[in-house]
Amino acid sequence: MTKALKSFASDNNAPVHKAVLGAMMEVNQGDVIGYGDDVYSLEAEQTLKELFGKDVKIYFMLTGTGANVAALSHITRPYHAIVCSDKAHLEKDECGAPEKHTGCKLHHIASDDGKIYPDQVAPYLKSVGFPHHAQPKVISITQATEMGAVYQPEEIKALAHFAHEHDLYLHMDGARIANAAACLDTSLVEMTRFSGVDILSFGATKNGAMAAEAVVFFNRELARDFEYTRKQSMQLMSKMRYVSAQFQALHSGNLWLENARQANAMAKLLADRVSDIPGVRITQKVATNAVFAILPPTAIEKLQRRYFFYIWDAAKHEVRWMTAFNTTEQDIEQFVSAIRDAVDSP
Ligand SMILES: Cc1ncc(COP(=O)(O)O)c(C=O)c1O
Repeated sequence: MTKALKSFASDNNAPVHKAVLGAMMEVNQGDVIGYGDDVYSLEAEQTLKELFGKDVKIYFMLTGTGANVAALSHITRPYHAIVCSDKAHLEKDECGAPEKHTGCKLHHIASDDGKIYPDQVAPYLKSVGFPHHAQPKVISITQATEMGAVYQPEEIKALAHFAHEHDLYLHMDGARIANAAACLDTSLVEMTRFSGVDILSFGATKNGAMAAEAVVFFNRELARDFEYTRKQSMQLMSKMRYVSAQFQALHSGNLWLENARQANAMAKLLADRVSDIPGVRITQKVATNAVFAILPPTAIEKLQRRYFFYIWDAAKHEVRWMTAFNTTEQDIEQFVSAIRDAVDSP
């Protein structure tokens, strides 16, 4: 992989937004208390509380996997089960960390777009009270999903209602919650707290931060002693001000939304511009910043010499292209022209 290749592989490959870096530079003076007891961290916490409500509990974390694993391990016992989609990051892409750290069994529901529904969770409840089976305790959903789809607030409410009716919690992996909010034109609080989510892994890294995630408890009871879980999960940053500054840069104004809108708009543009290229077929609805497409295998090979992106399903010749806050219209036009060349030339 050379440095020169433009990436459509992941929003993880995007740089850090300059305002985020600027905010980190701004707090980079003098000594402050470590581990989050500093003025910058308190300020960022207040900023997030304005978004989610004054009474939520917020814990800054370093990675999305760490946020998911710490959140889930805190609200479960090892004899529990977590129900999620088969596309869920915690099921597919966390190297078994959720299983290792929670001890829980993961039940994964087959899903094309990464979304799951109460009627698909219901069969797992047959295990409740049966000591030979892991006991379902959490439904975990991803907003936006790993396939770029979004849950409508009504769908989240239905899942929360179902979960609470059956003494389960609703966890949301919000690594790309900003993209979902931009797509739905709704607020972060509407999709989470007002929809009945108990606990959120709140992502900023894919939205322009360097390394900034948080666990947000809407169900305050659940937050008890989480500071110890965070430390045991190795997610308590000593120089916390630099994590806090990233949240402050994104969320004290509308930068988070502008970034997400730009990423989403560029994915839409890409999907529109390739829609009439013979041999290219979009396979998922483009709601946020991911485009899934089937291409002739020779075209994939040619294109990958010029651009970095992942093959999603090799058997189907399906690829995933992702955009980010820094993707420009010019990037898309150049990429589309490279796709045309790759498909056209024998
Ligand atoms: C949906 C989702 N959740 C969680 C994560 C984990 O983030 P990290 O790589 O920071 O552990 C990712 C990473 O790409 C993701 O796509």
